[in-house]
Amino acid sequence: MAPDARRCRPSPAAVLLLMLAACCCRLGGARRALLDNGLGLTPQMGWGGSRLACLRNRIQIRVPGFASRSVWNSWNHFYCDINETVIRTTADALVATGLAKAGYTYVNLDDCWADDQRTKEGYMAANPNTFPSGIKALADYVHSKGLKLGIYSSAGTRTCSDRMPGSLGHEDTDANTFASWDVDYLKYDNCYTDGTPETERFPRMSRALKSTGRPIFFSLCEWGYMDVAKWGGATGNSWRTTGDINDTWTSMMDNIDRNDAYAQYAKPGGWNDPDMLEVGNGGMTYDEYVVHFSLWAIAKAPLIIGCDVTSISEETLGILSNAEVIAINQDRLGVQGKRVRNYGNDLEVWAGRLTRHRQAVLLLNRGAASTASVTAAWPDVGIRPGVSVEARDVWKHETLPGKFTGSLTAEVEPHSCKLFVLTPVPR
Ligand SMILES: *[C@@H]1O[C@H](CO)[C@@H](O)[C@H](O)[C@H]1NC(C)=O
Ligand SMILES: *[C@@H]1O[C@H](CO)[C@@H](O)[C@H](O)[C@H]1NC(C)=O
Repeated sequence: MAPDARRCRPSPAAVLLLMLAACCCRLGGARRALLDNGLGLTPQMGWGGSRLACLRNRIQIRVPGFASRSVWNSWNHFYCDINETVIRTTADALVATGLAKAGYTYVNLDDCWADDQRTKEGYMAANPNTFPSGIKALADYVHSKGLKLGIYSSAGTRTCSDRMPGSLGHEDTDANTFASWDVDYLKYDNCYTDGTPETERFPRMSRALKSTGRPIFFSLCEWGYMDVAKWGGATGNSWRTTGDINDTWTSMMDNIDRNDAYAQYAKPGGWNDPDMLEVGNGGMTYDEYVVHFSLWAIAKAPLIIGCDVTSISEETLGILSNAEVIAINQDRLGVQGKRVRNYGNDLEVWAGRLTRHRQAVLLLNRGAASTASVTAAWPDVGIRPGVSVEARDVWKHETLPGKFTGSLTAEVEPHSCKLFVLTPVPR
């Protein structure tokens, strides 16, 4: 919007109207072109696949001009070990742990839910061994718990596991099948393609979903190719900006860094997706998982739990159900917070606007060696110089004593962060 607004500025009042019209047209146009399903007004929250899906060791090989190929290692069998019992007990556990109440609504199947081949009539069918009751019955069960069911396919001839068909060339059939099962969400992957660009294959499914008449959240998973953030908003409700995350500090930080470059494209209805949460899978320390969850929250990333919630620890539950942190992610203004200051020496400030003139501010120490003091200066975080604020530490659940004017400084331990909500107060 900014470049157009600037172009309009030289002329006065009439141009203001033009500007408004232009903005409305652009937004309205984009909205009409897209799914227009009214979903994703805040980033989606839920549980995705299983932790096993997160650990899949997929190596993407992409040669420009050719279809990407996926190479899987022998863990493949293990990752496909998903069945209707796992999904039902996960739905039960989301409710029992209070995670459902905290906002984690979607229960998403990942790869391998379907039979290896289509039926004679050309439909996808549930794998009769692992989902004997069928997907409709599963959706009914999940809905009875007040939750929503997500399903998975690929914009290719097969999904990434090569254990089930993909939807390429069958978009309308499959979208109608999913809708007839009362599915609420589709994660759409990018394996076994025919080499046509993502910008053609993904909108096809988008249109197919739209014409079912059922609002189905559309989650694009094409790993950030072709600058998906620039067209994802006209196609889906979220789009992966990166390759697969894994349960390491390096991978987590790498994904959020790549995702940060596209901050301006996120808005209610469409979100950048740096991939699901590894919190609780054991590869990072408590402080590192707090950084992970804080960054995903401030960056308005989808909060899709990637660990086994049927055996979740108190510590993990404490991170994932922190209502003050979730509130930053789910703030209705829908502005993606981003890195606003890089001091070098691994010290950074991230910030994003919230409703009611508040700011979310994250002080981050990426270094592994020593505790350091990190300062959020008002010009960096977007607060006017004279403004005083109250600072709420959303991990300690404490409001700091006194007011802050001009800046806020805190000590931050290695591989740790502090996350604050700043609220303007009278001086
Ligand atoms: C479902 O998968 C779980 C986890 O792999 C396994 O323990 C269980 O036996 C399976 N249940 C059925 C009915 O296949
Ligand atoms: C995790 O991801 C990083 C890239 O962010 C990669 O370098 C590393 O090899 C991956 N590790 C595993 C175990 O897949």
